[in-house]
Amino acid sequence: MEHQFILSGASTKEERYREFLPQFESLVSDVDDEIAVLANAAAALREVFGFFWIGFYRVKGDCLILGPFQGSVACFRIKKGKGVCGAAWEQGHTIIVPDVDKFPGHIACSSLSRSEIVVPVFSSGKEPVVKCVLDIDSEQYATFDDVDKCYLEKIADILSQSLY
Ligand code: SME
Repeated sequence: MEHQFILSGASTKEERYREFLPQFESLVSDVDDEIAVLANAAAALREVFGFFWIGFYRVKGDCLILGPFQGSVACFRIKKGKGVCGAAWEQGHTIIVPDVDKFPGHIACSSLSRSEIVVPVFSSGKEPVVKCVLDIDSEQYATFDDVDKCYLEKIADILSQSLY
């Protein structure tokens, strides 16, 4: 089965996200395997938006451990509070970094990365906790803005239904 995303009228980034969202939801809904969902989520986001590096780090004890991703080899383990990923986990909110060299403690998995966004993915249910983070890197400065934040948080909400 070949899967194709259809972004017929999308010319702006926001329109692309808006058209992508329901298609993404139908792709991952009713899949009861966390790794399978995150793997296809990484592939879908890379395919549609062409991100330089896109992937997930999953919470295991006091660390984030590398999960499904698309892009070059990345660091395996990030401690809570460390780097952009560890900070987004600890603070429980999205962090946008326009210039990674200006973020104290940024962890450089690729010297080509210039800007970054990290979005926590919470568990669903009454007392949500961070289950993993969605990390996206760009080779350009200041790639990510409030539009990315808004729609990537919606994507994180959809993913939270698949995390146990
Ligand atoms: N830059 C991240 C580390 C992960 S890589 O970008 C894939 C950070 O500072 O947490």
